[in-house]
Amino acid sequence: MRLDKIHQPFTLSAITLTLSLGAFWGAWILAQMGFLKSFTAISLHTINAHGHAQIFGWLSLFVMGFSYRLLPGFQGSTLPHPHLALATLPLMGGGVLLRSVGEGIGSLFPFAWNVAMWGSGLEVLAALLYGFIIFRIFLFSANALETSNYFVLAAVIWFIIQTFYDGIYFIATTHAADPKTLLRLVSTWQAPLREIQIHGFGMLMVLGVSQKLFPRLFGWHPITRRPPLQLLFWAIQMGLAGMLSGLILMRLRGHAWAGLWYSGALLMAFATMAAVIKSRLLYFRASEDPFQNDLIKFIRFAFIWLFISLGLLVLLPAYMGALHFIAQGVSKAAKMGFSHAYYGAIRHAITVGFLTQMMMGVSSKLISTWKNNFTQFETFFPWAPFHLINLGCTIRVVGQIGTDFHSSFFYITPFSGVFEVTALGLWGFQIFKIIKGDLHESNIHPVI
Ligand code: HEM
Repeated sequence: MRLDKIHQPFTLSAITLTLSLGAFWGAWILAQMGFLKSFTAISLHTINAHGHAQIFGWLSLFVMGFSYRLLPGFQGSTLPHPHLALATLPLMGGGVLLRSVGEGIGSLFPFAWNVAMWGSGLEVLAALLYGFIIFRIFLFSANALETSNYFVLAAVIWFIIQTFYDGIYFIATTHAADPKTLLRLVSTWQAPLREIQIHGFGMLMVLGVSQKLFPRLFGWHPITRRPPLQLLFWAIQMGLAGMLSGLILMRLRGHAWAGLWYSGALLMAFATMAAVIKSRLLYFRASEDPFQNDLIKFIRFAFIWLFISLGLLVLLPAYMGALHFIAQGVSKAAKMGFSHAYYGAIRHAITVGFLTQMMMGVSSKLISTWKNNFTQFETFFPWAPFHLINLGCTIRVVGQIGTDFHSSFFYITPFSGVFEVTALGLWGFQIFKIIKGDLHESNIHPVI
């Protein structure tokens, strides 16, 4: 396999997994939740099997493929151990299949829990090898460490941590002696895991790669070492650490620790927004190239969803207060003092609105550019997917929060899944077509 095509099998596997065990299954789960009028009516393991396929299959495989393809060029080196890099595909892809299917059917066929554990083992191996290769790229690079590298390296470290955490957490939940123990485990350890996966791994990786890639794509001055940006990077890490320890201590030591969680959330959210502004990731001028302008729309909307998600996080205490005030008699969430729907909306805004939209937009540009070489531009821009993904995400976020106030929102929210899966299907089909055509071409002189 040529090194400039190494991202292709990873991307195709990520698309296949999201269109089966990931988004497609998520849409089916959402339809059942709408019918049953509850976000907690579906078994924990079914929901987590979907979440797992999305984080490890969709997000991780995609990131792995593109980091093998992009990072060596950014560092002025070549990919070390290309065969090892390729081996991480069957390890991670196979691991996700075993783990997600095993977790999904484990309550019907108990032997499947063991199969799922083997899947987690393969994922740990893949994550370690991936981490080793990425650290080799940076270690042997002639270029000095730039701020964007801090973001990428931190994302890789969080990625490895979450892979171990996820495996151990899965074993603990499948061995819980009774429902009370399971509930205790989930309420203490699941939320920190999601923080690591979404903010620690996904968000930091996108921010790091964007700082390096956007100047090249849009002809800006490179973003190298900027002291305020480095400070913001450390503020994000401190914020994350505060959120993680606050979430755990809140359950183990008492609710007063919610203050630590919230301080961490504020620090992480404001430092992230400041980092996006400071690294000028939103600094676009209209271009004469219509394809460039199309890409800019994807990126802008992705950042809007990131800011919406972070804004909702910051407003959480105000929301709970307002919910208590407005819907005390009607809302289960107001009575419990915890809104599953609101948390779900925060997560969906960032996983689909930000991460997925950014992945779709930027990869459309890169894959079509790489196919035809830089001089023959043939960029497709997936317009229907762009509208569908934003429509779906809006319906989901508004609809899911709306269920706290009125049960009729349960009938509207499932439509979001249909729009989002259609968006991913249409986009994925285009990517398959482009990559398939590319398999027989050899005229590539990549610039990026
Ligand atoms: C594209 C269409 C998608 C649909 C229809 C969908 C649907 C759902 C549903 C119905 C739930 C359970 C309810 C909730 O917790 O809000 C859920 C949870 C989850 N989803 Fe998705 N999802 C989609 C995309 C994604 C993506 C792209 C990711 C990650 C990259 C993701 C990661 C997760 C995770 C981690 C959970 C578990 C959250 C928890 O800890 O409770 N989903 N999803």
